Amino acid sequence: MGQKDGEKWTAAADLQPTFPKSDRLLASPVLDVAGMSLALGTPDGFHEVLHAIDLRVEAGQTVGLVGESGCGKSVTALAIMRLLPNARYLQGSMRLDGQQLLGLSEKQMRRLRGNRMAMIFQEPMTSLNPLMSVGSQIAEAVKLHRGLDSRAALAQATKLLDTVGIPGAARRTHARPHELSGGQRQRVMIAMALACKPRLLMADEPTTALDVTVQAQILDLLDALKREMGMALLLITHDLAIVSNYCDAVSVMYAGRIVESRPVDALFDGPAHPYTEALLKTSPSEHAPGSMLPTIQGSVPALGKRGAGCLFAPRCAYARANCHQLAPEPTAVAGEAGLATVACWYPRHQARNT
Ligand SMILES: Nc1ncnc2c1ncn2[C@@H]1O[C@H](COP(=O)(O)OP(=O)(O)O)[C@@H](O)[C@H]1O
Ligand code: SF4
Ligand SMILES: [Mg+2]
Repeated sequence: MGQKDGEKWTAAADLQPTFPKSDRLLASPVLDVAGMSLALGTPDGFHEVLHAIDLRVEAGQTVGLVGESGCGKSVTALAIMRLLPNARYLQGSMRLDGQQLLGLSEKQMRRLRGNRMAMIFQEPMTSLNPLMSVGSQIAEAVKLHRGLDSRAALAQATKLLDTVGIPGAARRTHARPHELSGGQRQRVMIAMALACKPRLLMADEPTTALDVTVQAQILDLLDALKREMGMALLLITHDLAIVSNYCDAVSVMYAGRIVESRPVDALFDGPAHPYTEALLKTSPSEHAPGSMLPTIQGSVPALGKRGAGCLFAPRCAYARANCHQLAPEPTAVAGEAGLATVACWYPRHQARNT
């Protein structure tokens, strides 16, 4: 796993892979990512895209992963699925029900994907085969993991379409994706993801392309199915209104790092990280319809342009000289249960309490 000739490294240059060797036999949490750093190969060399990610989701829990575009939310989910062919895992661990995912072979991962862990994406058309009926596509997933014959798998597919609220499921089983509405296609994706009752479902902006009413229907459906199946749900979104309505806890991501992880009520009552505070101020739900939204000045630093200090410093209203020199590590937020951390030298809750 050493550096090959001609490959350039950025911040990750001196990191050596340090994967834990023994597996913990933990029933909970379902997903436990600890200190995971990852570099991705790009035309100008490898860049560290994720740094020391800590993420935990328990059975029956919904954890929101939020942050502006380009912060690394999708890469995090794809990394957990081990679906990034150009990835180098640099350090840390990723466990599903206690099983270490790093180090599993591609064959072993294929057995887990769509079985114990599944993912749904923003745009179903990119994941669905336009030439096959939706029923056959769901049936394929069922056959692959459950070993049912074609007839039983198709019957199961129809049942799943019914479960996800597609009217006239028996008839719709034979429809091709383009014959369905955007909301129905997303329901098909959910049916496919749930075909094998995964322990972990990761939904990457699953409703961004849908209108508001359909958004709520799809999120309500995901919430109900999560409860019914006792799944762990990682919900990736840039919409804080969705977080406040559907999540138990939230991890805020900035430039490839988790900068704040809190129970959802605590975060909305008093964000600890200046970035979270800024995001809350830009959230549409904070403002009257039609009013101008404030935007956070500046932009997420590009890969390869991430310096040594706090990466939010150039945009932070509270930055002091030392913030530009040394990056703060995640620190426990006093008095809060579960995973409650903030990575900031001068967190807002401390400023409010003094
Ligand atoms: N497959 C890839 N190879 C190299 N870089 C990538 C790849 N996918 C995403 N990136 C880069 O990683 C960073 C995080 O991207 P992404 O996870 O898609 O952000 P988000 O989902 O939060 O909008 C971005 O700078 C993006 O350009
Ligand atoms: S460490 Fe400093 S620059 Fe970074 S978010 Fe906190 S106050 Fe702002
Ligand atoms: Mg994304």
